[in-house]
Amino acid sequence: MAVSLTRRSIGWQRWNRFGPIRTLYTDLDFVPEKLSEDVKIHSARSQTTLTMNQLLQLKGVPFAQFLHKELPVRLARRVVELENLPYGLSAMPSVQKVHSWYESTFEELRSTPLPSNANDTERFKVALEKVLTRHNDVVPTLAKGLIELKKTLGVSEEKIVDRCPFLQDFLDRFFLARIGIRTLIGQYVAVHSDRPGFIGLFEKDCKVRSVIEYAADDAGLICSRQYGVRPEVVIKGTLDLHLTYMPGHIHHICFELIKNSMRAIVENPKFKSQGVFPAVEIVIAEGEDDIAIKISDQGGGIPRNDMRKIFGYAYTTVKDPPDITSGTSQPQLAGLTHVPMAGYGYGLPLSRIYSHVFGGDLIILSMHGYGTDAYLYLNKLHQSTEIVPR
Ligand SMILES: Nc1ncnc2c1ncn2[C@@H]1O[C@H](COP(=O)(O)OP(=O)(O)OP(=O)(O)O)[C@@H](O)[C@H]1O
Ligand SMILES: [Mg+2]
Repeated sequence: MAVSLTRRSIGWQRWNRFGPIRTLYTDLDFVPEKLSEDVKIHSARSQTTLTMNQLLQLKGVPFAQFLHKELPVRLARRVVELENLPYGLSAMPSVQKVHSWYESTFEELRSTPLPSNANDTERFKVALEKVLTRHNDVVPTLAKGLIELKKTLGVSEEKIVDRCPFLQDFLDRFFLARIGIRTLIGQYVAVHSDRPGFIGLFEKDCKVRSVIEYAADDAGLICSRQYGVRPEVVIKGTLDLHLTYMPGHIHHICFELIKNSMRAIVENPKFKSQGVFPAVEIVIAEGEDDIAIKISDQGGGIPRNDMRKIFGYAYTTVKDPPDITSGTSQPQLAGLTHVPMAGYGYGLPLSRIYSHVFGGDLIILSMHGYGTDAYLYLNKLHQSTEIVPR
């Protein structure tokens, strides 16, 4: 399904040590001829973003009608983007697989009549549940696409991403868009399933400390399985902090950060020899507009030279990385038994994207020779608008 980019010269060209990078599209003004007219039209339309408050109020027919209009626009943009990746990445079998999922979902939604009554909204929910399942494995499948490209080009996928800033940007944009789409669909499905204490995916009274404790337990389980020991986790600060938020997103990020801290502590030769490990220290703080969670460890930190790499996709210091394609990257789906302690190189970049969805951020500071501090900021205000990529 990939279209040769050399057929038409548009945008700008880059050159690096792999040779000429094929023409890159800097925006969506141009779309290849092979795409259906409908995809072209939708990819050119503006996306509509909602504030958290607006999202929390949507239900029933208006919500279904909003998604019926909005999802094809967002999906079409991704279809176009998947057609236009540099180095011939678009032609890799796994990227084409992801492309075919996005295209099928786009076509399915476009052939669904506009929902206009309660029966339609129920049918729409069933259709969207199937969409969620179809797209479950987008992350490992795209990662597999990078591995296929690595074999074709004969360089490591980490180096491909490192040397091509466009690829890093593409993956950031693509995953941000994916989380946005899944949040909208997940919210629709969940809001029509009436879970007590929740408005869709949002827990009305989400206790931040409990979510962190769950994440610490999950990370600790994997750590014990891998190393036979697990550092303690101490939580301080505003322990009674609660807000309306998606616990799933907080869990995902904290789980990844705690896993990283535990690995650094347990692998630090300073403690390994004694068998006594310092705790991972977590502080929860509440500001006027946001909440902050700091996760600190004494795992030895990260060399300054490596700091620019840690948010790069596929960057890992695990010597013999596990195969990301052998399972799903979503612990909640796969169960923790399939999640390795480290090695995919997707933990930090994806966590940062999760933090960005409603305007938050993730910052890592390190003192090499001592330890690492991760600062997670989440917007408290429900006026904060969903961030979507172009
Ligand atoms: N707290 C930390 N202390 C020391 N190094 C860290 C810490 N957090 C991250 N790193 C470094 O950053 C790299 C990238 O982290 P990231 O979580 O993205 O990938 P990973 O842990 O290797 O694999 P996975 O995607 O399975 O989590 C790690 O391999 C490690 O070298
Ligand atoms: Mg990690």
